[in-house]
Amino acid sequence: MPIKKAIFPVAGLGTRFLPATKAQPKEMLPVVDKPLIQYAVEEAYAAGVREMIFVTGRHKRPIEDHFDLTYELEVALEQAGKEELLAVVRSVKPDDMECVYVRQAQALGLGHAVLCGRRLVGNDPFAVLLADDLMVGQPPVLQQMVEQFKEWRASILAVQEVPPEHTRRYGIVAGTAVNDRLMDITRIVEKPAPEQAPSNLGVAGRYILTAGVFDEITRQPRGVGGEIQLTDGIAGLLRREKVFAYRYEGKRYDCGSKEGFLQANVELALQHPSLGTGFRDYLKHLTL
Ligand code: UTP
Repeated sequence: MPIKKAIFPVAGLGTRFLPATKAQPKEMLPVVDKPLIQYAVEEAYAAGVREMIFVTGRHKRPIEDHFDLTYELEVALEQAGKEELLAVVRSVKPDDMECVYVRQAQALGLGHAVLCGRRLVGNDPFAVLLADDLMVGQPPVLQQMVEQFKEWRASILAVQEVPPEHTRRYGIVAGTAVNDRLMDITRIVEKPAPEQAPSNLGVAGRYILTAGVFDEITRQPRGVGGEIQLTDGIAGLLRREKVFAYRYEGKRYDCGSKEGFLQANVELALQHPSLGTGFRDYLKHLTL
């Protein structure tokens, strides 16, 4: 069963990025020349996902506009003969990709945001991508996870090793190794203190989940920070079905934090086909 639908929870308040996020979505912040949300959507598309479900909130209209037809712009570029730019604009939403939107009236937590997509997802397994985790991998990280899903037919969470002092930033998993990349999860805890963390494997913002998680989320009381946590829903799920942790190949930039966002901009600018060389020279001079 292929993964055809993905939920993009984009209704958070983005408080760590104030004042930039006072009146614009964090997910529209650009890394080099593309908004964060577009990186995540492209990753999902590359993994075969064709229905993008955005869980939005107030101030999130620019996301809808970004994936909509920009008629005036396209006509202007066409008339000016700017074919390359026209192709860039049109590639944002390929014809076979569908975008649907559902509102989360109150930012009650990631679990609640995912639950808002329930009716649109139905009973099939689906992906969840957090756009503020910018993932660079070859093949793209979600595609790696889809391959794992094809083999194991069970929920898969992307994980990475995290420094012990950072466990409070992540859902932390523990379990039994299946091979050097895969673990059969027996426990998952949201944002534990280092001394309570069951391992050093933190969940990154990529999930493939079975629809059973929706019932589990509804059963959970509010968790860490008074929020309805996806981690708690997954903890419920793994009492009923197998859930695997997959140590992905690639790099994650935590673009929900200012440091991670700046690192992503520098590193992706260095890799950029037209900007890279000049930017590298600029940095060399700067650090002399
Ligand atoms: P974060 O934990 O980064 O929260 O959410 P946030 O509100 O965006 O940012 P800060 O911490 O205040 O700076 C991770 C992802 O989950 C979404 C966010 O939009 C983000 O993409 N989210 C979070 C929701 O959609 N709804 C929520 O209730 C919470």
